[in-house]
Amino acid sequence: MLIDRSTPGGLRADYFAQHGWAHGRLRLPAEGHDWKQFAASWDELVPDAYLGQERCRRNRRFGRVLAHRDGTLEPLHGTEFFQSKEINRAFGDQLRVFEPLTETVLASNHFPRILRETVDLVNEVAGKQDWELGIHFIRVFADADRGSEPAPEGRHSDGHAYVAIHLIDRHQCVGGRNQVFRNNESQAQYSVTMTEPLETLILSDTAMEHDVSEIRPDELSESGWRDTMIVDFNTVPDPAGVAGRTHSSLQ
Ligand SMILES: [Fe+2]
Repeated sequence: MLIDRSTPGGLRADYFAQHGWAHGRLRLPAEGHDWKQFAASWDELVPDAYLGQERCRRNRRFGRVLAHRDGTLEPLHGTEFFQSKEINRAFGDQLRVFEPLTETVLASNHFPRILRETVDLVNEVAGKQDWELGIHFIRVFADADRGSEPAPEGRHSDGHAYVAIHLIDRHQCVGGRNQVFRNNESQAQYSVTMTEPLETLILSDTAMEHDVSEIRPDELSESGWRDTMIVDFNTVPDPAGVAGRTHSSLQ
């Protein structure tokens, strides 16, 4: 088992294709005024209305984008998100409607660049095609007297074709270690605690399962949090049939 070591060569498509997952850092800057503004949009997330308070406290927003095979990123109306109980034993079989991503996010430089890098990587592995992307902005909080499980459902797949987990920031917290498993294998293929902005773990959601450990405040702190941007990839048989088409494009 590989522990806390990035994929040789980082986020390489050949490694991703061969193993079903890859880990590394996106080749994008994560500094300067624009980045700070983008990362600060995690301050604008709202409490997850579907979550009990007992195991996790998290804020979120959700957006959908149609990533056309020609490279166009078309934002979509509508923020409904559905997983079956088979896929998500904690929150499955209910239609969840989340608050949308803000206009500031949609207009930022970083949002489309992160999506483009991620889509390019998946297209190298899966072949160039149209994808419906589900994009989750999530902040998970932990208090001194109570840790917080970023994924209360435990080890799981999410019912998509691919999933990318981008770390945006972490603040005064420890834990939040991601693991990836081949389906039906008990031993993890890989384990990593991401610490750098735009560090990314990407995986085939059909071949692999994943989980993430509890976060807790660090020794010096009463509270802490961890910010992620998770991108779900869903296959699109016919772009004309995708709900919420806007026929506009992110720049
Ligand atoms: Fe997940």
